Amino acid sequence: MHTVQVALADRSYPIYIGAGLLARGGLLAHDLPQNRAALITDTTVAPLYLDTVASALGAAGVSVTPVVVPAGEQHKDWHTLNAVFDALLANHCERKTALVALGGGVIGDLAGFAAATYLRGVPFIQLPTTLLAQVDSSVGGKTAINHPHGKNMIGAFYQPLAVIADTATLNTLPDRELSAGLAEVIKYGLIRDPAFFAWLESNIDALIGRDPGALAYAISRSCENKAEVVAADEREESGTRALLNLGHTFGHAIETGLGYGTWLHGEAVAAGTVVAARLSQHLGLIGAPEVARVAALLERARLPVNAPDLGVERYLQLMGMDKKVEGGRMRFILLRGIGSALLTAEVSLDALAAVLAASVAHA
Ligand code: NAD
Ligand code: GLY
Repeated sequence: MHTVQVALADRSYPIYIGAGLLARGGLLAHDLPQNRAALITDTTVAPLYLDTVASALGAAGVSVTPVVVPAGEQHKDWHTLNAVFDALLANHCERKTALVALGGGVIGDLAGFAAATYLRGVPFIQLPTTLLAQVDSSVGGKTAINHPHGKNMIGAFYQPLAVIADTATLNTLPDRELSAGLAEVIKYGLIRDPAFFAWLESNIDALIGRDPGALAYAISRSCENKAEVVAADEREESGTRALLNLGHTFGHAIETGLGYGTWLHGEAVAAGTVVAARLSQHLGLIGAPEVARVAALLERARLPVNAPDLGVERYLQLMGMDKKVEGGRMRFILLRGIGSALLTAEVSLDALAAVLAASVAHA
């Protein structure tokens, strides 16, 4: 087992990474303040791992109240959140009853927001079961649900007590979901870790082939990167954490524009990352060889590199809802090299429209 620490003073917590961790009741129960917990999961993950976790916790003396919600991005909404609150209240869950999120980023974000708001805040533990959740969404305390007008618009910063990533759960993950997770892995290389990007170029086939050693390294290195960024800028105030949003301004527009769940989050981020790279090239920050390197790695990870044709006007409208908008101005994460990114508002509407039109034309 590898451990990465998220250093946030009195709210610091460990990320445990290893195969078979969901069966380790002592580890799962270690941070629970009470001998009961509410386990939030979805209809796909429940038949795969709910019994394992409930048995392990049971053996450690913790009883589990399962709350199973429908799987999928289209259910990351008020309706599902309210169903979680209904179940917590009906089962008399108390202030010391931890919420345990077992699933991908949808469950982690939804259960995290429920934990942030139920009874004004209850303890929360993440058990991520997708690659995307193990490398990104379970770490750092961003919790949210979607709104019809935009992704993750309603939420809170709320840190878990621990993240326990059982890498063996990736054995049941569909190939398309594995690729989606790789989009966020590649992101860390691009924004701050050029050596990791080069490692990914050499090892992407092993990752696609689910080589356990390669996956374990990619998850650990991603969590180390994320932990450093979150420790430096927990609430996205200084601009450091915003860099984790590379490709997301365009990606969120794709997800909302196509309808939640049509493209996977990681797929939308991949296509959005190529738009961001092309915009960086248009502004003279990087050259064509860097754009080609970005697109080539994403393609080898079996991710889309062309944006769907929503129309430039619709893209601009959707991107105007981005959470990074400040004083009415859109802000963008751009690349100034492989392994170096910046946050800027200095992008003219003309440049943006030209790159969007060209990116869609590539499709
Ligand atoms: P997801 O949670 O929808 O999971 C993908 C699918 O895989 C679901 O159908 C799920 O039921 C299934 N699944 C989960 N684990 C499985 C397993 N081990 N075996 C088989 N099937 C499994 O999607 P995701 O890609 O994990 O997460 C995407 C979400 O994460 C988006 O809503 C995105 O906005 C959010 N996100 C949040 C952050 C953050 O910092 N909070 C960061 C990145 C992404
Ligand atoms: N996934 C973006 C962030 O955690 O800030």
